Amino acid sequence: MFTQPIPTLVRDGNAVVILDQTLLPYHSEQRTLATLADVATAIRSMQVRGAPLIGATAAFGVAIALLADRSDAQLDHALQTLAATRPTAVNLHWALARMDAKLRPLPESARGDAAWAEAEAIRTADADTCSAIGEHGVALIEEVATRRNGPVRVMTHCNAGWLATCGAGTALAPVYRAHAKGIAVHVWVSETRPRNQGLLTAWELREAGVPHSLIADNAAGILLARGEVDLVITGADRVAANGDSANKVGTYLKALAAREHGVPFHVAAPYSTVDFACAEGGAIPIEDRGPAEVRSVAGITDKGALVSVRLAPDATGAANPAFDVTPAQLITSIITERGVTAPGRLRELYPEKAE
Ligand code: MRU
Repeated sequence: MFTQPIPTLVRDGNAVVILDQTLLPYHSEQRTLATLADVATAIRSMQVRGAPLIGATAAFGVAIALLADRSDAQLDHALQTLAATRPTAVNLHWALARMDAKLRPLPESARGDAAWAEAEAIRTADADTCSAIGEHGVALIEEVATRRNGPVRVMTHCNAGWLATCGAGTALAPVYRAHAKGIAVHVWVSETRPRNQGLLTAWELREAGVPHSLIADNAAGILLARGEVDLVITGADRVAANGDSANKVGTYLKALAAREHGVPFHVAAPYSTVDFACAEGGAIPIEDRGPAEVRSVAGITDKGALVSVRLAPDATGAANPAFDVTPAQLITSIITERGVTAPGRLRELYPEKAE
């Protein structure tokens, strides 16, 4: 079982403690979230980020919101406030719907304890889910290892490791499992402008002793073309019923290049990321985070101060779609906690959810 080096989300009395990801990879600092507003701000500002972690954090946000007032009106207020934080990761909306279904039928007197228990259940189930994804996904890496002399070269995008979940991660779970089994791997980590979540991935991998190389986003194509990638594994923020998958912007370009060069492209995603209410990828809402993130870049000075440096003046036009959709036909398989499947066959894995 994978143990997170620092818990991404843990209950502390009537609050939760998170690892502030806006400071990583430079400073590792935990923060206590004690109010509904704290939780909503943490999700919106990406102090917590990654689809499964956003969902679990929001569930605790509901428990925190009901501390003093357990009325239907307060429940509605909490659900609406948290649902408005980020649009693309369906795990957020899945977790809120689960909290609503659990709490609304209960008398107000029973809602407090039930909310904490349900949020904790979502958190621990996510850790188990990540482990299962790791177990299923490692077979894909093992298969390459049997016919390759040298490390299996995995390309990923954004951060879908332990920082993005309550467990080992999604896309990185098979990598960690392979590393634990003694299979040599090397991970190509793309920076993932504009928020540079690839730096989080590189930080995780370095801490875990997994060989990797940070690359500029634009370098992915040449590595795929040169035959220097054995498989691509990314996470997802929402998988539509037909297997179309939304993930961090730039994922689609990798899938296109992988197809062109005959490299398998896998998406690792749990139950909570699958949205059968979205028939196809065109129905997935894509977050627009505004131009400021594109016009600047965050980093650290030689003296250790975190700074944001201007790349382009305010007058420069900029666009910032935060996610893109990879069509199912470019996806070799989806790695879930229930097994590895073709994107078009998701309904067979989740019959209870598909109704
Ligand atoms: O904007 P972010 O950092 O929350 O986006 C994260 C991603 O796109 C991840 O790849 C995705 O959530 C999968 S996380 C297990």
